[in-house]
Order: sequence, then structure tokens, then C-alpha cells
Amino acid sequence: MLLLFIHVLLALLSENNFVGASLRGIAKPNCPTDCGNLKVPYPFGMGKGCALDESFELICNSTFNPPKLFIRSGNIQIYNISDSEISIFNSVAYSCYNESGSSDSVNSITSFEETSPFTFSSINKFTVIGCDNYAWIRGLHGSDYMTGCMGICTNVSNVLKNGKCSGVGCCQTPIQKGLKGVNITIGSFDNHMNVRPFNPCGFAFLAEENHFRFGGARDLSRASKLYLDSHVHILVDWVIGRGKRNCSQATECKANSFCTDDEELGGYRCSCNKGYQGNPYLLNGCQDINECEDNSTYPCYGRCSNSPGNYSCTCLQGYEGEAKEKYGCRPVAKKSKFPVVVFSIVLVGVMLTLAGITGIFFSIKKRKLMKLREKYFEQNGGVLLKQKLNSQEAAYTVTVYSMEQLRKATDNYSNERIVGRGGFGIVYKGIMPDKRVVAVKKSLSVGETEKEQFINEILVITQIIHGNVVKLLGCCFEEEVPVLVYEFIPNNTLFHHIHNEEGGTSWLSWENRLRVAAEAASALAYLHSHATTPVIHRDVKSSNILLDDEFRAKFSDFGISKLFSKKEENVNTVVQGTLGYLDPEYQDTDNLNEKSDVYSFGVVLAELITGKKPLLVERVYQERYLSKYFVKCMGEGNLLQMVEPRLLNEAGIDLQHLNAAAQLANRCLEISGVNRPTMRSVELELEALRRPTTTHPIVPPEQVAHEEISGSVNPEIQPAD
Ligand SMILES: *[C@@H]1O[C@H](CO)[C@@H](O)[C@H](O)[C@H]1NC(C)=O
Ligand SMILES: *[C@@H]1O[C@H](CO)[C@@H](O)[C@H](O)[C@H]1NC(C)=O
Ligand SMILES: *[C@@H]1O[C@H](CO)[C@@H](O)[C@H](O)[C@H]1NC(C)=O
Ligand SMILES: *[C@@H]1O[C@H](CO)[C@@H](O)[C@H](O)[C@H]1NC(C)=O
Ligand SMILES: *[C@@H]1O[C@H](CO)[C@@H](O)[C@H](O)[C@H]1NC(C)=O
Ligand SMILES: *[C@@H]1O[C@H](CO)[C@@H](O)[C@H](O)[C@H]1NC(C)=O
Ligand SMILES: *[C@@H]1O[C@H](CO)[C@@H](O)[C@H](O)[C@H]1NC(C)=O
Ligand SMILES: *[C@@H]1O[C@H](CO)[C@@H](O)[C@H](O)[C@H]1NC(C)=O
Repeated sequence: MLLLFIHVLLALLSENNFVGASLRGIAKPNCPTDCGNLKVPYPFGMGKGCALDESFELICNSTFNPPKLFIRSGNIQIYNISDSEISIFNSVAYSCYNESGSSDSVNSITSFEETSPFTFSSINKFTVIGCDNYAWIRGLHGSDYMTGCMGICTNVSNVLKNGKCSGVGCCQTPIQKGLKGVNITIGSFDNHMNVRPFNPCGFAFLAEENHFRFGGARDLSRASKLYLDSHVHILVDWVIGRGKRNCSQATECKANSFCTDDEELGGYRCSCNKGYQGNPYLLNGCQDINECEDNSTYPCYGRCSNSPGNYSCTCLQGYEGEAKEKYGCRPVAKKSKFPVVVFSIVLVGVMLTLAGITGIFFSIKKRKLMKLREKYFEQNGGVLLKQKLNSQEAAYTVTVYSMEQLRKATDNYSNERIVGRGGFGIVYKGIMPDKRVVAVKKSLSVGETEKEQFINEILVITQIIHGNVVKLLGCCFEEEVPVLVYEFIPNNTLFHHIHNEEGGTSWLSWENRLRVAAEAASALAYLHSHATTPVIHRDVKSSNILLDDEFRAKFSDFGISKLFSKKEENVNTVVQGTLGYLDPEYQDTDNLNEKSDVYSFGVVLAELITGKKPLLVERVYQERYLSKYFVKCMGEGNLLQMVEPRLLNEAGIDLQHLNAAAQLANRCLEISGVNRPTMRSVELELEALRRPTTTHPIVPPEQVAHEEISGSVNPEIQPAD
């Protein structure tokens, strides 16, 4: 999950840089910039004198509509161009066979002029698609480079559809950097005799690895040639001074830019200095970035001031700290000054007389404050906690924070610090003096029940030490209302992530869903059996499962949990919990036991599988409660009808595992508690499902992302842009 996230983030960032860095000052003055939809940046150019030299000249042929851009020789059409990347249209070698075994076969030659600055990037992979094919690629222009690849398969059902080129029906191999021309030839061992019904043709071509996804059986058809020609592109490298000069002789890099040697290709390129953007090859091309106008890329929570190539960001007057960080600025500690000696002598006298009066005044005020604090301490359950702690055999340690510490940490409970409203109070983000980030939970009011719950929560949580349970750091009794301090869990709740709420990721993959479920189950199993005294959570729901910075599950909100000794099988309590998750047996009988948590967990599993909310009054009556709807569909064998559709499209999804998880959820949702599995066996089953089977290699998150975004025609192949 995290990987996916970073990946998407990096993709976004790099795209931004790309656009930002490329097209500001575009072409040389008085030269055309546009050809169709493309903008041609200097050192490239269209027409005499518009490019750095002849070899950088491009030709815009406007007999086409829209006009097409070509490299000067070789009839090579450019697909996309910026000052850092060029990609060209593909030329696919193919051979197709009919019943009589005769072939219709064409090899592919793509070649740049010997003096041109272009070469094929080694990001491209030589790719062969076919079930009875071998193909090879040869370097032209005197290069003796040659390599090859084989695509073999005997049964179409063996061809994976996960986008990976694994040798079955698809084969990929890296190519050397610096090739200026290639000749691709394809052949067949058996003229496709045994595979013709599903694979009449073989194809061989270069493709940017990250932008080509093998579409499985679909790509084995004759028609996929058209798609490959138009949607799979080749990335091209270029340098200045190719084979002749290096940065020590460079004159092309203009003000505020620097030169980078490409030792492998023998040449160099220019880039704008840090803090500048634009076209480094043009006079005044690199322009200062005004960081202060773009606070999403260059955050500043104070006074921002731009300077050439840099910017400064300082805290507002009266504050100090790191203004580039949110909450980085803190009020300056007040320092009183006595500037002049004379005054100080006078003042000493005055102060001596005042000292007595103020001393008395402050001691009264201080005593009042102490009284108030003591009152709150009592009122908030501090005394109760002390009693309870004393009565427990085990010695727990609970850190007790002072009022000042927490007010400082939360910027005096400022509204900007609110990160959530959960359980029975408001949660603030706090920053401790040692920079540690904490979650500070302040209850709304203190009635007797809240006091009880508050103490309860402290007692429960201090006993629980488990990687998937939110850690309680301490508490404070001196405020008007009780306050708890937890470790800060930054990534919102599972509910956010499943239901695409603001603050959640756009997509949680199946692998991650299973993992989070297994982690949450492990926490509950631990609560039920491992803790020194068994604990029933009583409010299991996706919005009580938080995700940390590595997207690990962390259970929170033990506000209504009750410690519960093994001796009593069932405990009669007032029914509490959240609608949509509530165990119907418990609701009917008021009898609370571990199996009530199992039921609620079943609802969370159902949420993960269907992507539906547990209770939605807008839904038709039969589907209003997810739990009932889920059980009904499972009873009718209609799992696929309700599964989150995007899960089914996900690369590498194992339907057997999906089904097993759904069966497990179904058992958790049994009406009668005794028929539900224990949390421990739920945990074990989920863990078993997480183990990859050998036939389904784990698909890296980036592929999941591609799959998800891919379009309609041939969703498995991404254009090389
Ligand atoms: C433009 O393309 C047409 C059709 O391929 C060709 O006949 C013509 O010579 C090209 N023009 C230029 C300037 O290359
Ligand atoms: C097979 O292809 C060859 C060459 O393209 C052609 O001459 C022949 O008629 C084709 N045979 C059939 C049955 O289509
Ligand atoms: C292909 O594999 C499937 C399942 O593995 C099998 O049912 C089928 O008979 C195989 N076909 C051939 C032609 O071997
Ligand atoms: C490309 O390779 C094929 C087969 O190896 C060969 O017949 C053909 O002459 C080559 N073409 C060029 C231009 O080298
Ligand atoms: C750059 O070229 C000069 C002269 O051709 C050569 O002496 C120098 O070593 C080269 N520098 C690098 C870093 O290749
Ligand atoms: C900069 O941040 C402030 C709030 O911090 C926001 O109101 C403003 O729209 C932002 N400006 C830009 C250019 O993003
Ligand atoms: C930018 O300014 C900061 C301090 O304001 C300084 O530490 C940094 O070195 C400067 N960067 C450049 C590239 O001048
Ligand atoms: C061409 O490249 C630019 C810069 O990366 C990108 O923004 C644009 O979407 C690309 N165009 C196409 C048609 O892929």
C-alpha cells in the first residue's frame, strides 16, 4: 500500500517537474513552437537556424491533420517531445500464419542517421509476443550487437493476464544503451501449427518497460498489431556534442544552468540550477521559481520571501521554529528586559515594596489554581484511577501529564489541530517538546458515565501491548475534562480507505485488504485470549481501525470495552455499540461475549470485500444492512454480484482466496454466536490466505495502479508517454 502510494506520489511529482521544467521558454525567438499538439523546445527546432544544428532539426509535415512531427531522416514520427524526453512511434515486426502454414511476415527497421543526436534508450525492452515465436534484434550502423527472445506456450490457459512478460506467450529482454539503429526479425518454430486457433501471429518490438503491460490471451490475436503500432512507443535518448565534446567544452548551457556529462553516450545535456526552471539552452531560459507563490510544493506557514534561486520562510513575529513545517512555529518564550542601569536601581526599590504585595497575591492565586486542579483531578476520575490502580495486583504505570504540557503540545487545543471526533471526544494532534507527535483525546463533557469510561479505557489499554493496538502514552486530569494521550496514527481509519473518504487512499489493493484484516484479527484474538485479563472490544468497526504510516492496522477506541474475567461466561450490560455492526444476538439477549466482536469483525470483512458501507439508509430495504445483504447473497451463491468490482479487475487477484475470505465473513455473521469461529481461528485463516500460491506471483503495487487506471480498448497495455 505504502509502495503504491509513494509510487503514485512520485509519478505525480515527476510529471509536474517535467511539465514545469520543459515548456516555459520554448523555442528560439522568431521560430515556430507548435506542430500539431506538440511543442518543440530548443535545442530542437523546425526550419533553418531554429535548431542547435542540423542534426537537431525536426520536420513538421502539415499535409496531415493534425500535422505530424518527424525526425529529419528515416521517416520516424515523434509521439511526444519535451526538453528531457522524446518518444517515437513504434514499428512492429510481425509474422502471421494461415491454415496452409504460409506466412505473411515483415521485419522492422528503425534507424537514426549516424550523425544524429538520438539513440534508443535502455529503458526500452525488446519484447516478443507469441506462442510459437523467436525473434532477434540486431544493431545497425556497424554495430555487431545482437540479442533475442522466445515466446512459447502450448495452451492459452497458461498465459497469465497479470501484465508480466514471463516467457509464456510474452518475452522481454533488456537492450544495450546507445544503439542508433535496429533491425528486428521474427520467426516461428512450427508455423503456429498447434497454436493458430488462439495465436495466429507473433510480434516483436521495442517498448518502454513501464508503459507496456502484456494483456494475456487478448494480445495474441491478429488485431493487436494495430494497437501495438499506435499505443506502444519507444523512448529515445539524446545528447549534445555526441562523441566529440564534453562539459568542459560546452557553450550551450546558459545562465543559471549546469552541464551534465553522459559518459556512456559521449556527450552532455544542460539543466536549470536548483531554484530555477525553464529551458537551459535559451538565453534567460532558466527563470527563478517564485516559491512563495506555490505553497503546495514549497509549504510555508510563516513569512515567505523569494530570492533568486532560493527562498526563505520564517515564523511570524512573536513565533520561532521551523516555518516550513506545519505547526513548526511556536510562540517565543517571553523575556523581560531591563535595558538601563538607572532604571534598574529605581526599579529594585519599587519592586522590593511590590514584591511583598505580589507575593501574597500570587500565592493566593496559585492556591486557587491548585484547588481547581485538584477539583478537576477528582472530578475527572484521577482519584478513581488511583484507587483502581491500587486495587489491581499488577503494577501499571500511567504517565500523568500536566495541563501546561498538553496545552503547549496542542497549541491550546486549537481547531486547526483537530484530527478526528471519535468515541466520546475530540482528538487533537499534539507535538511534544521532543518533537514527538501524539494524539490528544479530550472528552466533551464529564458525566459519571464518561468518568467511568475514561478510567476504564485507561485501565484496559495500559494492559494491552500489541503491535496492532494503539498505544496509550498517558493522561491528564487537570483540565475541565479528562484527556488521554496516545501515539499518533497518521493515516486515518480503514473506513476512510475503503469508502474513499477524504484523507483515504484512492484504492486499497486486495493484498492490503487481507493484510489489514489479518492484523486487526490478530489484535482482537489477542484481546480475547492473550491479554492477562480477556477484553471484549465491543465497538469493532472499520472506523476504529486506524492505519499507521506503513498502513499497518491499529485498533483504537476502547471507550466501551470492559475488562472481563474468565469466570463469568456472559456479562449482562447495557447494549452499546454501533448500528450496522451490532451483534443481533447481543442486541436480543444483552448477553455479551467474545463472539459479539467476531460478528462485528465479520461486518468489517464484508466491507473490505464489497466496498459497501455497513448501513446506508439510502439503499433499498433488503440491502440496508450490509451484514444481512451479505449473508443473503452468500446463501444464494451470489458472491460475485456484490464483490467490489474493482477488486475483480485487480491484477493477481486470486478468486479462490476472495471466495474463502467471503466464506469466512459469512461464518462470522452467523446469527448464533456458538456457530461463529473464534477470533483466533479467524486470524489463522486470514494469515493462510495471505500466503501467495505459486501460480500467482505477487504483483507489485505499481501494476495494480496501472490496471486500475487503464482505459477501455485494451486496458492491459499502457501508452508509452
Ligand atoms: C509530408 O507527407 C507527405 C505524405 O506522406 C509527403 O508526400 C510529403 O513529401 C511530406 N512533406 C514533407 C515536407 O516532408
Ligand atoms: C495463406 O497465405 C498465403 C500467402 O499469404 C496465400 O497465398 C494463401 O492463399 C493463404 N491460404 C489460405 C487458406 O488463406
Ligand atoms: C489447456 O488447459 C486446460 C486447463 O489446464 C485443459 O482443460 C485443456 O484440456 C488444455 N488444452 C489443451 C489443448 O491441452
Ligand atoms: C534485417 O535482418 C534481416 C534478417 O536478419 C536481413 O535479411 C535484412 O537484410 C536486414 N536488413 C537490414 C537493413 O540490415
Ligand atoms: C573532456 O574532453 C577533454 C578534451 O577532449 C578531455 O581532456 C577531458 O578529459 C574530458 N573530460 C571528461 C570528464 O571526460
Ligand atoms: C497558500 O496557503 C493558504 C493557506 O495556508 C491558502 O489559503 C492559499 O490559497 C494558498 N495559496 C496557494 C497559491 O496555494
Ligand atoms: C537557500 O537558503 C537557505 C537558508 O535560507 C540556505 O541554507 C541554502 O543553502 C540556500 N540554498 C541555495 C541553493 O542557495
Ligand atoms: C507528452 O509529454 C508531456 C510531458 O511529459 C506530458 O505532459 C504529455 O501528457 C505527453 N503527451 C502525450 C500525448 O502523452
